[in-house]
Amino acid sequence: MSIDTLQQQTQSLAEAAQKEISEAHSTQALQEIRVKYSGKKGELTAISKEMRNLDNDEKPILGKAISEFHNVFNTHFAEKETALKEQELKAQLEAETLDVTLPGRKPTTGTRHILTQTREEIEDFFLGLGYQVVDGPEVELDLYNFEKMNLPKNHPARDMQDTFYIDDEVMLRTHTSPVQARTMETHDFDAGPLKMISPGKVFRRDDDDATHSHQFQQIEGLVIDKQVTLADLKGTLLLFARAMFGADRDIRLRPSYFPFTEPSVEADISCFKCGGAGCHICKQTGWIEILGSGIVHPDVLEMSGVNADEYSGFAFGLGIERVAMLRHNIDDIRHFYQNDTRFLTQFKGGHQ
Ligand code: PHE
Repeated sequence: MSIDTLQQQTQSLAEAAQKEISEAHSTQALQEIRVKYSGKKGELTAISKEMRNLDNDEKPILGKAISEFHNVFNTHFAEKETALKEQELKAQLEAETLDVTLPGRKPTTGTRHILTQTREEIEDFFLGLGYQVVDGPEVELDLYNFEKMNLPKNHPARDMQDTFYIDDEVMLRTHTSPVQARTMETHDFDAGPLKMISPGKVFRRDDDDATHSHQFQQIEGLVIDKQVTLADLKGTLLLFARAMFGADRDIRLRPSYFPFTEPSVEADISCFKCGGAGCHICKQTGWIEILGSGIVHPDVLEMSGVNADEYSGFAFGLGIERVAMLRHNIDDIRHFYQNDTRFLTQFKGGHQ
């Protein structure tokens, strides 16, 4: 190829490059142009390869043309690159603009579970009467769950509570009553009477439906002193009913059976909806069953080392879910455990 042609080609290559540079829309596109024209496999390299075929006096001419190309290319390239970089930075800053005067987005906070709120409210009520709140194990010995509650092996009433056994002697507690025995065993009666409640989870082999759950929560109550009577129990339950369901509530005790109390009673409250006239909540009876209770069986006292000639007491056990369902008109116990926030966030109250 003649030196003239090569010079011409270099010249038009410079013009083409210049045009492309001026039309580039991004720094990325600009880099591609550099590769295309002056990269190792670029078009200028092809021209440079012709150098060795030229006469010695022609070589500097091509050399000059090539360096001219580089000068022109680099000048335009640098100018365009600065402009594009500025433009891109501006676009980025605009896209990332933060208006610090906008009001913040409130992070969504959880609510205390309605069962927790209900439990704490019941605890507060009994704390106000001077009770202590005690805890007990959810995995319990047969000895405490049944035997010390006056339910010896093969006692028919064991069937009342279908049990999750872990082995022959260990189980998930079916009620909070075993905490009665545990607390009586350690309480120092010389220091004063025992007044306790014990809230917690209990487990039964029930099929889950609207009113049954294989796991639910109870609050056990126990008062042991000299000369505690059924009247004390009734007075306590009346105060409780009024605190939880309204000042107009009345209470009714019906005979019942529990192996660990004698006599045993089921406590009803007068219906908070109809006031006793009869409605769908109280199933037209005017009364709503609320808990099981009774006078602690002397054998239960003795088995926990309490002298039944000297001491007597009452006990009660109530379901927290049941209280919450009644108070908030909840028709299905499964709502408590499905953790649907549309359900849970309806109950915003409680200690935070
Ligand atoms: N433990 C009984 C139950 O789970 C309730 C209860 C407690 C009854 C204390 C009487 C006294 O059904």
